[in-house]
Amino acid sequence: MSGIDPDFEFAPAKINLALHIRRRREDGYHDLETVFVFADFGDRLHAVPAPDWQLQISGPEADIPGSLTDNLVLRAARAFATTTGIQQCFAFHLHKEIPVAAGLGGGSADAAAALRLLNRLTGDPLPMDELLQMAASLGSDVPACLLSRSLIGEGVGDFLRDGPDVAGLSLLLVNPGVALPVGPVFAAWDGVDLGGLGADWRQGRNDLEAAAIRLQPKIATVLDWLRDLPGVELVRMSGSGASCFAVLNGDHPLPDAPSGWWWRAVRLI
Ligand code: C5P
Repeated sequence: MSGIDPDFEFAPAKINLALHIRRRREDGYHDLETVFVFADFGDRLHAVPAPDWQLQISGPEADIPGSLTDNLVLRAARAFATTTGIQQCFAFHLHKEIPVAAGLGGGSADAAAALRLLNRLTGDPLPMDELLQMAASLGSDVPACLLSRSLIGEGVGDFLRDGPDVAGLSLLLVNPGVALPVGPVFAAWDGVDLGGLGADWRQGRNDLEAAAIRLQPKIATVLDWLRDLPGVELVRMSGSGASCFAVLNGDHPLPDAPSGWWWRAVRLI
């Protein structure tokens, strides 16, 4: 028996190493330039054939607000079934490790994993360009999560090309244990374009940091705490927050984060 379980798909957490917001669009979305990378940490999705679509969620971050039918896994499944016309339904089991509304792309990673899994389990009816289109209809970060490798994203995040080689880079992810919905953070952006991504993401920014801190001041405390750690090369917020990351140099022992905070040491894949 090989080690690969065909019913299983890993849904890696997404991190934005840099996120430059360029302009607010007429449709309410924002044009941006970002570096998407993925961690060796994430959710796990299983699917088995079933008489109807089902979703069960377990794990440390299973407490997801909203109804199960609105979950991005089932929305992805409905989109897949409509486009392919395939009648077979599946029962999903999602083991949730990525905190929800945390800037780590949890729901997007799960939707992308559902598309990869369903396509594989039904004999690969859709080519990657059609899966990417379907992913974009489910959310701005879903196409990047479908590919789950280092990418530069432009447009709303769905226009993708290869990103920097950062595999193996060591990051500490920390958030203050508060959910922060994406839409209000984008809406609180001050509208000032500070310029595009340069060649080096390390010289970049996360343009949503100030807006997110206004909505959730604990993010500033997290960033300060990370800056004081030993061996830290760079500290920044991911996505629309509230998760932040430190790029770590060397194997310094790390203190436990304050009580109530969520934290995880990861490597980029
Ligand atoms: O695309 P998605 O559903 O993940 O986006 C959630 C919300 O984030 C949108 O409703 C929008 O308010 C905001 N957003 C944005 N510009 C982007 C991506 C997301 O304004 N490029």
